[in-house]
Amino acid sequence: MNIDVVTIFPDYLAPLNLSLVGKARQEGVVDIAVHDLREWTTDRHRTVDDTPIGGGAGMVMKPDVWALALDDLVDPATPQENRDTVIVIPTPSGRTFTQALAHELALASHLVFACGRYEGIDARVAEHYRGQGVRVEELSIGDYVLNGGEVASMVMIEAIARLVPGVVGNPESLVEESHGAAGLLEYPVYTRPPQWRDTSVPEILLSGHHAKIARWRRDQALQKTAVKRPDMIALLDVSALDRHDRMVLEEHGWTVTSDGKLVYSPAAVTE
Ligand code: ADE
Repeated sequence: MNIDVVTIFPDYLAPLNLSLVGKARQEGVVDIAVHDLREWTTDRHRTVDDTPIGGGAGMVMKPDVWALALDDLVDPATPQENRDTVIVIPTPSGRTFTQALAHELALASHLVFACGRYEGIDARVAEHYRGQGVRVEELSIGDYVLNGGEVASMVMIEAIARLVPGVVGNPESLVEESHGAAGLLEYPVYTRPPQWRDTSVPEILLSGHHAKIARWRRDQALQKTAVKRPDMIALLDVSALDRHDRMVLEEHGWTVTSDGKLVYSPAAVTE
């Protein structure tokens, strides 16, 4: 996988040299190139922004400078070669980046992250490349505002790159994690010593009974998700829930209706 990141602060992306992503870069599993947007400016002051047309606070990044950069990285004249390219524009006004999207983007061969600063990048840039047949994703990493797209790009690059085969050593650790295929948060985990300060690990985990441990972990995952992320419960595939799952969910106010939908009706619990 090839990843290009365009930014006015290339040093911001230095952490991508560390840990698993850094190792994957060194080994050539993912190739990440960080570019300084100002390399594509043509004036003496290396200007990348201008005032917003229509008025308002702040500055907007210039479309002409961005297009010079993106034309070099995504050649619109070669649509065939750009079939597996995605331009990602991090922005708080984008759709939310999720684990499902991370899996989808991990299949692309070329990602170009366009990091905006100030009030963002002139809206015509995304529109222009979409018009050229390039997939452009404007993505938010959450409902809060950062100072620019650099940190958001790093978050997305880490989430995507670890799904590329060869980046994470043990692929099994990708299967059993929160936001994994089951759509549940991960059950709590423990290590030695089994007694520590005034607490012990749950007895069942010391039993050696694999089926009971698996059931306990699933119950914990269901309960944790019901309490912390009810929005995720609402999205569960009802046909993948066994009787015990339904019982646990019922204790948290969720019932399966006769037409097979999961609905939150806490009254059912108290009645
Ligand atoms: N840029 C500024 N805030 C952002 C956010 N929440 N997600 C993605 N990009 C951003």
